[in-house]
Amino acid sequence: MVIVMAKRKKIKKSFKIVFIFIVLLIVIIGSLFTYNTFFKKSKSEATSEVEKLMKEYNIDSKKYSKTLEFVLLNNIYNEKYLTEYQDIEYTDKDNFANIITTFLPKGYSGKEINYIMKLSTKNIDKLSNIDYKDISNYYEFKNFDVNKIARYNAYYEENDYNYQDVVTYVNINLDLPVYTETTEVNDPNSLSVLVNKYNYLPNGYKPSDISYLPGAYGNNVPMREVIIEPFKELQKAAEEEAGINFMPTTAFRDYSFQKTLYNNYVASDGVKEADTYSARPGYSEHQTGLSIDLKNTNISGSTRLNEEDYEWLSNNAYRFGFIIRFPQDKTYITGYQFENWHIRYVGLDAAKIIYENDLTLEEYIDLYVTDY
Ligand code: DAL
Ligand code: ZN
Repeated sequence: MVIVMAKRKKIKKSFKIVFIFIVLLIVIIGSLFTYNTFFKKSKSEATSEVEKLMKEYNIDSKKYSKTLEFVLLNNIYNEKYLTEYQDIEYTDKDNFANIITTFLPKGYSGKEINYIMKLSTKNIDKLSNIDYKDISNYYEFKNFDVNKIARYNAYYEENDYNYQDVVTYVNINLDLPVYTETTEVNDPNSLSVLVNKYNYLPNGYKPSDISYLPGAYGNNVPMREVIIEPFKELQKAAEEEAGINFMPTTAFRDYSFQKTLYNNYVASDGVKEADTYSARPGYSEHQTGLSIDLKNTNISGSTRLNEEDYEWLSNNAYRFGFIIRFPQDKTYITGYQFENWHIRYVGLDAAKIIYENDLTLEEYIDLYVTDY
């Protein structure tokens, strides 16, 4: 008896589920049907309205396009641009009408309007404030900056780089002489702060979280607290995986320390040479406290690292958030000779991207951080 009751209950339950299912199905099909008829109706109304307008403006029906329909219905049609409308791909972007009415009169073709549609709002704003510029070589790059078109063009003519590299290199300022048009960094405490021959630290900057680690020569080496743990992990892995004993020689160097160093180098090698390996005071990444110069203390004498040490360091530093800051083949970007001993903390994510894409910090910031 109990079993029969239980069975009945079960059947009742399945009926209920089927019933709910059927009701839901009816509701869904019903609403789809209603939507469809409504949608079709409004669409056919729009079409006849457009047909009427096309007749009114004497437009050949072969010239119909979704963009033409849009400009007619939005009252921004101008017969001067009839053929251009055919080339402009319709999008439902909010600024579609605005772009059309702003840029066609400046002399942009329909095809070029499509390029403009792909730009960032910032770039569109900049472009709307100036006369016609040919952007066809640059619009597709996410680090393209409308304000720099003349510099891109000049740099492209003078060098053998492709357009993407031209955009990146000019953004980095490689077309300008070093130590002339310089900018003060506005985020000196950021882990991705960029300090180089174009970007200097605020006057007297010193990080507030200085901590110390034992150095290669029995000294205590100051650096930012945030890099202490990651560096200790790097040291441990180097020891365990490759038998290397990486120790810091210097890390944080304040303005006056760097000044003394640089002036000494200038006194012995001259400005031109010193500039290839030493930063001027205020322009050294060491002043951020995020860089460390290393020495493998298993090697006696002045050699800092062997080739095998560098091999390990260059392929593993990123696992701990560090990068090789002045790689061998990137002198033309970093502005410094190869330094196999100088590592810089940038954090795990940035270090991984930089390592995997073989980038310098300069390129990384421009391609991944700066908002264009
Ligand atoms: N040796 C590096 C470039 C510095 O002086 O900061
Ligand atoms: Zn260094």
